[in-house]
Formats: sequence, structure tokens, C-alpha cells
Amino acid sequence: MLPARNLSVVTGWLVREYHDDDLEAVVHLWDETASAGQLSVFSVGECLGALREDQPAVVAVSEGHIVGVALATVTGERAWVMRIAVHPQRRGEGMPSALLKDLERLLIELRVRRIAYVLPHEELMAEGLTKAGYERQPAVAYYEKKEALGPGEAVTLESLGGRVLPGDLWDRLSGMHEEKTLIENRIIAPLAHPEEAGGHGVLPPRAIVLFGPPGTGKTTFARGIASRLGWPFVELFPSRLAGDEGGLAQALRATFARVGELERVVVFIDEVEEIAPQREFGTSVGQGSHGVVNELLKSIPTFRERDTRLLVCATNSVRSLDKAFLRPGRFDYVIPVGPPDKDARAAMWITHVARSRRSDVDVDALTFASESLTPADIDYAARKAAQYAFEREVIEGAAGAVRGASTEDYLIAVRQVRPTVTAADVAAFREDIAQYARV
Ligand SMILES: Nc1ncnc2c1ncn2[C@@H]1O[C@H](COP(=O)(O)OP(=O)(O)OP(=O)(O)O)[C@@H](O)[C@H]1O
Ligand SMILES: [Mg+2]
Repeated sequence: MLPARNLSVVTGWLVREYHDDDLEAVVHLWDETASAGQLSVFSVGECLGALREDQPAVVAVSEGHIVGVALATVTGERAWVMRIAVHPQRRGEGMPSALLKDLERLLIELRVRRIAYVLPHEELMAEGLTKAGYERQPAVAYYEKKEALGPGEAVTLESLGGRVLPGDLWDRLSGMHEEKTLIENRIIAPLAHPEEAGGHGVLPPRAIVLFGPPGTGKTTFARGIASRLGWPFVELFPSRLAGDEGGLAQALRATFARVGELERVVVFIDEVEEIAPQREFGTSVGQGSHGVVNELLKSIPTFRERDTRLLVCATNSVRSLDKAFLRPGRFDYVIPVGPPDKDARAAMWITHVARSRRSDVDVDALTFASESLTPADIDYAARKAAQYAFEREVIEGAAGAVRGASTEDYLIAVRQVRPTVTAADVAAFREDIAQYARV
């Protein structure tokens, strides 16, 4: 690169070409401006890449400190302005426009004919850009898809038995409005928009616990989160890891090391009480032992180092977890997932009934009758009812029968299902919420 040229001098600061020595100060400035809400559709990683490739960039310098930076990336006759960042205390001095003007000069020298600047928020810089001759393109809609897997990651993911889940699992999760809203706001939104979250001082979560009675949808929620984020999903099975040579602790360490090779991932450990039981009862519960709990406790801080990974642990028995395991520095949220409410049950029945092609089923009656059932129980009842209808119509050949399960078929099936969650379980769950939930 040629020695950096000074481009324009304004009172108090000057704009000059970017130089490699500026890198550290520039990255620092991006950090500061991102938390102050100055955003870009280009990630910091992409901007760094552009700087390394000597793409055009300018900095504003005041008393030897870098207080502003603008950079672009050029392909042929087209340039994209990637990011214009100005130190939060130097706003209102016309710095973005000055940076842009000098950046344009460099672009013109490179024979660029069209300069585009895609902003995550319309109002950002709108006036300055109009003044600088930029025209807002009203017909443009910016769509973006993040590929879940980076180069070489498919092999790692496969070796972990993980995969990228379909994109619609979250939407297919019926009802459970309260839980869904909570997870959307606390988990998904900060992870999907880390820069905006940072701008509000919100730290994206790294690890959560879902607890609740069996069959209430903990696994379904974990998969839904991965699906919603578009991140790969890896489930760790303590019982399978235990079979590995060197034992469970060693297998956990090796697995977490491999998980570390993935840029983005949701790691799910179901029935975590098996590996992290209260240490005083240690080996008597599941396969847990001091060594294994300790290994898991050690793995969590390393796992937490990156903000594009989420550990989801699920348990039916939050009260039997090791106390140290649950503390705030390790898990950001401890979220109850309870039996479905009325709306959730109604939504589940509607989904099941829709499969049977009958329009005369009384969903309200089913919703009422299934009050004490979990989603898993409702699934089971719906399958039973479908089987009755199938047997009646196909195997017994009932003449003139309407196809699919009737309200009566469903009600008979519901009555035959033994609820997984008893009244005592519900009471215990309420106590657990009072004692352990952190949302
Ligand atoms: N909100 C929901 N909408 C539709 N189906 C659901 C919902 N929640 C759970 N299910 C269905 O209920 C069944 C049980 O859910 P899931 O396996 O997620 O429960 P779990 O809490 O993980 O159970 P366990 O404690 O036994 O591991 C699954 O078949 C799932 O598809
Ligand atoms: Mg489960």
C-alpha cells in the first residue's frame, strides 16, 4: 500500500486514507459504535476481510486518535459502502459526510461508476446521503439468508450427529404463547441481532436450562430455537457418550472440543440431571459422578466465550440438579416449560384434526377433555383416534363411513390416555418455578 495521503482537513480532525497500522483502533471504534447503535448489514468480520484485501477505506483522525472510519468494497464498476462509523462523542460535526466524500474520491480513482449503501435502518444518515447525491431506491427490498454451515463444517457437524433443521419448526410449535414470547424476546432476538442487543447493553445468552414435566415440549422448544436461528443443532446423549472409551468425562471434553469447531451451533443436552446430579448423591443417580459434573462445569465457560453458540440443557427434575450447575454465571436463564394451556391444546388439536380431513370435529370439546394432558399425550391420543377410524373404515370396511376420526373417536382416545403429568406433578412443578425459575 502507498503511504497514506491526507485527504481533507476540517477544524479539529482530518480525513486520511486508512493504513494497516490503524487496524486496532478501527476495530475498537467499530466495537464502540456498534454498542452505540450504529449498525451495518456487513459484519465486523466482513469489514475486517475488506481491510485485509486493501479495499478502499478512510479514517478521521483527531489529535492522533481515530474517531471515524468509512470503508467500501469494490467489484467491477460497483462499490458497496460497508460501514461508516463515527465516535459517539463526535456526532453532529459532519464527519460521516466528510468520510463518505473522501471515500468516494478513492472509489472514483478506481473507476467505480455506481456506489451503493445499504443501511439497516432507513432513517440512518438519510439526510446526509440525499445531500451527497444519493437517491433512495424505493423498489429495493433487501433479502438476506445466512448459510448455516461454513466451509468444512459439514464434516464436523456430521461427526457430532448434528444437522441443520428445517426452518419452520418454531412456527409449527402450537400455542404455548407465554413460553414462546419469552424465548423469542430473551433468547432468539439477542442472538439473531447481537449488534442491536449490544447497543442496548443486552448480552446475548449463551446457555439456558429448560425444565418441566415429561412430554411438555422441552426438546421441541430446543429444536425450535435452532430452527428459528438457522443454526445447526447438535444433541448430546449422555448415555451414548458414556459408552466411549475413557468414560463420560473424557467423551464430554472431546465432544465440546469438536463443537468448538462450529461457528454457530445450538447444543442440546436432554435429561441433564443424569450428568449433573447433586454431587452429594453423585453416583447414585444416573451415570453422574463428580468427574462428569466437573467436566461439564469446566466446559461451560469455554463454550460461553463465543456469542454465536447456545447451550440448551433440559431436565424433568430441576430440583435434583447440582446447585453449582445452575448458578447465574453458567446459565443465563432457567425457563419453565409447563403443560399446555387452553390455547396451546386447541392449537394442537386443530393441527391433528386438519390431518384427518374432517371438518365436523368439535375442537372445543377435545380441548376441554384434554385438560390434564401434555403435548406428548395429545399426540398419542390423536394417533389412537386416527387408528380407530382407520380400522373401522379400512379393515372392517364400514359402509358409507365418513373418512377420518370423529369427535367421539378422539374423546374415547383421550379418556384412554393415562396423563403423564399428575396433579401432584403439577404442584411440584409450581414449587420448582418458585424456587428455580430465572427468566
Ligand atoms: N407446542 C407444541 N406444539 C405441538 N406439538 C408439541 C408441542 N410441544 C410438544 N409437542 C409434541 O409433543 C411431543 C413431546 O414433546 P417433547 O419431546 O418436546 O417433550 P419433552 O418435554 O422434551 O419431553 P421429555 O421430558 O420426555 O423429554 C412431541 O411429539 C412434540 O412434537
Ligand atoms: Mg425431551
